[in-house]
Amino acid sequence: MLTGKRVLLIIGGGIAAFKSLDLIRRLRERGNTVVPVLTAAAEKFVTPLSVSALAAERVHRDLFDLTGEVEMGHIELSRSADLIAVAPCTADLMAKMAGGHADDLASTLLMATDKPVLIAPSMNVRMWLHPATQRNLTTLRSERILVVGPEEGEMACGEFGPGRMSETTDIINAMVPALGDGPLRGRHVLVTSGPTIESIDPVRYITNRSSGAQGAAIAEALVSLGARVTFVTGPSSVPQPIGVEAVRVESAAQMLDAVEAALPADAAVFAAAVADWRSAKESSRKIKKDGSGGPPKFELMENPDILATIALKRDGRPELVVGFAAETDDVIAQAVAKRERKGCDWILANDVSPETGIVGGSENAVTLISSDGVEEWPRMGKTQVAARLANRIAETLA
Ligand code: C5P
Repeated sequence: MLTGKRVLLIIGGGIAAFKSLDLIRRLRERGNTVVPVLTAAAEKFVTPLSVSALAAERVHRDLFDLTGEVEMGHIELSRSADLIAVAPCTADLMAKMAGGHADDLASTLLMATDKPVLIAPSMNVRMWLHPATQRNLTTLRSERILVVGPEEGEMACGEFGPGRMSETTDIINAMVPALGDGPLRGRHVLVTSGPTIESIDPVRYITNRSSGAQGAAIAEALVSLGARVTFVTGPSSVPQPIGVEAVRVESAAQMLDAVEAALPADAAVFAAAVADWRSAKESSRKIKKDGSGGPPKFELMENPDILATIALKRDGRPELVVGFAAETDDVIAQAVAKRERKGCDWILANDVSPETGIVGGSENAVTLISSDGVEEWPRMGKTQVAARLANRIAETLA
């Protein structure tokens, strides 16, 4: 839980600014100090008086404020915090950050800081989807600025889509990994997740029932222990874990490329359900029925084994490589053999027979197979499995 931290909260000028009043209260409730900064536009939405009253702190508003500079210079102000949060972060603030502007107090503080920065964007859906904003988003992410939201939903302007500022608790939860505390601080962990899809022709593909829930939970658990996580995921409707660097792919071949590009890593967890086969010759035209009533003629070929490729590497192999083995028969024996064959350190075996309800469900029952032997874990939520695995990884890398 986030407590005892000093958060410099920059409130941007958007309709969601009223939600930052709640953010101040909830942060203080947990024993944190909030130092508020208002942009000129923010003052049109919330008053300095209400912000100051809730924060029980002086509100900083002006770059050239003599009293403010005497009490604490703006450079010192930006460095005295444990974390800078920008909520709501407007399209303009994002553009200023990405462009390195420093023409008011908020942008100058963001330029002068050496502390983690988290932004909670909020704006009209078209402004969010505008190429300029998306370009700025990519820039900010590449500079390790943590981005929370925006959420999809009904907007104050009556439109629908992504643009709503995230809820207070989601913003606070994202602050913990932003601070980078925890036993995996300074470690890079790679996680693959979700299914892959393999095109047959422009309209058809091969895939599987993986939801990506277990992989996402693992990524999130690793982030909460302070790891930098590269999350390589196939198409999945599970929300993207907060605080990861996500790489979205479709096919196994793309997943392998993304995994190779993300190395080096201290540990790698291969939770993706990679399609075993792809079409040997992807058709660029839609395959038509030939009128004979018979099956179509198309051949399959085997996909590269991503886990084995990485685990059997001579150079640049992560210190710890973890695979999964989803089976319906002889689960443990198959998993033991798979661990040997693929060269990974640990295998988490699970029974995916339909009656277990594991595929697509919220629970999992896994057995950890390592060089130390076979360890059965009780059936528990996928979040608990993830937390236990992340803790094990932290212990092992320590
Ligand atoms: O062989 P099987 O698919 O059962 O192996 C499961 C493990 O191998 C999982 O960790 C999965 O992510 C990984 N895998 C992979 N690339 C493949 C097939 C499986 O990384 N092509």
